[in-house]
Amino acid sequence: MTLTQQGWYQWHAPYDDLLSEHTDRLEVVQQLLVDVLDDAPAGPLRAVSVCSGQARDLLPILISHPRGAETSATMLELDPLNASFLHGALGSTALTDVRVVVADAGQSDAYAGAVPADLVLMCGVLANVDLADAVRTVDLLPALCAPGGTVVWSSHGDGLADVDAVLARLEDGAFARVALHRTASYVVAAHRFTGATAPLPAGRRIFTFRTR
Ligand SMILES: C[S@@+](CC[C@H](N)C(=O)[O-])C[C@H]1O[C@@H](n2cnc3c(N)ncnc32)[C@H](O)[C@@H]1O
Repeated sequence: MTLTQQGWYQWHAPYDDLLSEHTDRLEVVQQLLVDVLDDAPAGPLRAVSVCSGQARDLLPILISHPRGAETSATMLELDPLNASFLHGALGSTALTDVRVVVADAGQSDAYAGAVPADLVLMCGVLANVDLADAVRTVDLLPALCAPGGTVVWSSHGDGLADVDAVLARLEDGAFARVALHRTASYVVAAHRFTGATAPLPAGRRIFTFRTR
């Protein structure tokens, strides 16, 4: 069964409802993305979105923010239909440095050439993997982040077994909390990387999505 058949394209439909919980969370994520770009040092920026889906979060910000044109972005997405949607959306923008890469973001090799990034966006990942994979994903972040880079992440529903464990793993490591929005239905957070970029491990399986 392909990912498309599992419905990851349709998963984005509630974003079209301006009053949905999806849209509510999206607004929080987007505000954090704006904050990251507002505060970014001058010069070229790099961003990577892990399991970007249709990039309803990052793409509008890259289009509208003055630093968007200076951002080289990689959207890693496994579902070809979501990737096509993104290609279509990109076609009507002036952005020239955004790549849509159809790849398994659960494999460390998928990030080669796209990192270290000033902005790592990881939304809708941790709720879809088991806790051991979530911890492995957090442990990969030092290889994905440029020094001073920011991870913006979110988790919706109760798929993430232990939010506190993820926060502790980040904050006991080299990530300082910048923002945390925690409601009954979602978590949205931003963490700044305070360490030195780690080497990207080769050929390592980091996470596998649970079957939906
Ligand atoms: C919950 S959605 C989140 C989409 C987007 N990040 C958002 O928050 O709006 C999860 C996305 O991950 C994609 N996906 C699932 N497994 C993946 C993998 N191994 N590598 C890359 N993308 C994957 C799905 O196709 C889907 O678009």
